[in-house]
Amino acid sequence: DPALVAKGEKVFKKCAACHQVGDGAKHRTGPILTGIVGHPAGASDGFGYSKAMKEAGSDGLVWSEEELHAFLSKPKQYMKKTKMSFAGLKKDSDIEAVIAYLKSTAQ
Ligand code: HEM
Repeated sequence: DPALVAKGEKVFKKCAACHQVGDGAKHRTGPILTGIVGHPAGASDGFGYSKAMKEAGSDGLVWSEEELHAFLSKPKQYMKKTKMSFAGLKKDSDIEAVIAYLKSTAQ
């Protein structure tokens, strides 16, 4: 749904302080998020994740849409010791949109 992706691109402005996606994306405060949907957690080469995120990934956490939704609504509640300092997105509709946008960045 192109309208949802466009909405998600706007929502992503809240993430862009720390995350990049697409051509030429680099790790910043947060890891590159290109193609993150469906990808294992804590697995992007060259980024210094928290122990919590690395362990979640090695324990099998994959960023399905469901897991992402839970993480993005309350990051610190979802993963107590994550180093993502972000309060989360309040509106389910914003979360759905940003996930659609992230899916659109897969290469
Ligand atoms: C990690 C998404 C906002 C900093 C992550 C991960 C995702 C994500 C999916 C896990 C990546 C992976 O496993 O490779 C988002 C989205 C945001 C957002 C969609 C906006 C809605 C932010 C903001 C910051 C931030 C604003 C900085 C203030 C980080 C950091 C990590 C991370 C440092 C690594 C966490 C750890 O290792 O525990 N983010 N993020 N994020 N994010 Fe965000």
